[in-house]
Amino acid sequence: MVVSQQDEQVDRGRRAVNWLLGSSLGVLFVSMLYPIAKYLIPPKLAEPTTFSVTLPWKLAELKANSGQIFRFRSRPGILVKTAAGELRAFSAVCTHLECTVQYREERQDIWCACHNGVYDLNGKNVSGPPPRPLEALKLNVRGDQVIVMKG
Ligand code: FES
Repeated sequence: MVVSQQDEQVDRGRRAVNWLLGSSLGVLFVSMLYPIAKYLIPPKLAEPTTFSVTLPWKLAELKANSGQIFRFRSRPGILVKTAAGELRAFSAVCTHLECTVQYREERQDIWCACHNGVYDLNGKNVSGPPPRPLEALKLNVRGDQVIVMKG
């Protein structure tokens, strides 16, 4: 079969149009997917291995048998002053499904309302679904300031 020069030019033109259409659709597809993927996959924040935060409450302001939530890095922490007056600090992120825990004055424990998880005042998981203790944070009291540290 003999292919004329005109047919060959038409065929080349068709391939060029097909290539352009395919490339444009590919670019369009990627430009639509990229913002969706950026929204769905949050960027990983590099967190330093050591960190400290000075709490906004003065030592004298903290009453016995109370708990305060504070911001520690990008997550919540909990400061507990026991009925005996001891200070303790933990990550306030429940080890089950990461809800924020709270101090219960009437029971003197740390409670996760999401699935009724309970921790004692050493951060140990004592009932409910939490599989591990709360992460303990270090405390340093300087004068009337309370500093919470990790690392
Ligand atoms: S998230 Fe805390 S008990 Fe489930």
